[in-house]
Amino acid sequence: VEKAYFGSYSTFGIHREMLADRVRTEAYRVALEENPSLIRGATVLDVGCGTGVLSMFAARGGAGRVVGVDGSKEIAAFAQRNVEANGLAAAQGGPVSIVSGVVEDLCRQDELVPGVGQVDVVVSEWMGYALLFETMLPSVFAARDRFLRPGGAMLPDRAVMYLALGGEGSSGLGFWDRVYGLDMRPVRDHLAEDARKAGIVKEVPGGEVLSDPAVVRDLDLCTATRADLSFNSPFALRTRGDCAGREVHSLVLWFETPFSERFCKDRPTTLPTGPDTTATHWVQTVFLLRQPVTLAEGEALEGVISYADAKEHRALDIGITCHVSDGQGGQRCAQSNVYNMSVV
Ligand SMILES: C[S@@+](CC[C@H](N)C(=O)[O-])C[C@H]1O[C@@H](n2cnc3c(N)ncnc32)[C@H](O)[C@@H]1O
Repeated sequence: VEKAYFGSYSTFGIHREMLADRVRTEAYRVALEENPSLIRGATVLDVGCGTGVLSMFAARGGAGRVVGVDGSKEIAAFAQRNVEANGLAAAQGGPVSIVSGVVEDLCRQDELVPGVGQVDVVVSEWMGYALLFETMLPSVFAARDRFLRPGGAMLPDRAVMYLALGGEGSSGLGFWDRVYGLDMRPVRDHLAEDARKAGIVKEVPGGEVLSDPAVVRDLDLCTATRADLSFNSPFALRTRGDCAGREVHSLVLWFETPFSERFCKDRPTTLPTGPDTTATHWVQTVFLLRQPVTLAEGEALEGVISYADAKEHRALDIGITCHVSDGQGGQRCAQSNVYNMSVV
């Protein structure tokens, strides 16, 4: 799994996709380049530096020292070359040092690079589909706990997960209902069965979100630990007035990572990935219900969403248990399902 994971980051296609995602990359650029009171003169650790883009943003933002680390040897070599192409490398008198290695291994060393024991800022782009799929967040926690000075900054400093009701069009499977006038519902039903095992990563049109979102997890990245990444969160969702009577087919999940005023005092920003903003490469994750439901006025879809590490490394089991509640103790349409998101 580790070989496949780091191998995937050694190809340029994935880095291009991330860099071309402007919502993502701009949020980091603003945090690093437009917050001089945080970055100017600071020592910054970039966990999983990839092409070196965030390390170079930090350098442009005035950082005194920047250490970029990547576990993919191939991409770390290009990060080094990119940093040199921009005249920002330590050997050129610039602030940036690139280290090829898995950050957990560096945690066993006294210093990240000679002369850098503690850092003022840890920056990392660690987010996966449904926030925690293939997550590298535990690696970021390890680096934080080992190298961040007390009171130092995490960028981003929070991660908030949202859940909302999804309409019939949220899954995109309706495509197969009628194709050039032909009935291809056997394909739809087959794909729906697969989707009920794993969830669907796709862009959900805003009009297919039938409720206001509920926050199901709000992680403080300065203090959260690995244990906080497994959780059970209750939710209660009601159809929005303008969507009354529409069938609920799914639960739609997305996240946002704020770079809040806690550390970004000059220009706080956020990285939203919801259906109401420009799509990012994370889009949304759709969990198809076993049984669609229609909520009458006063009714809510109530339940619990749970995240747990799956058996396979880097895989995730997302459980959803829910029922329709009339608010007075009456319940119907109870259902539950586990969606396994795995690397292969
Ligand atoms: C999502 S990419 C982000 C790349 C770059 N920071 C950017 O914003 O374009 C994550 C990177 O982290 C690296 N990575 C993941 N886990 C790591 C670990 N434990 N130690 C070092 N690098 C890691 C991957 O190889 C990959 O290049």
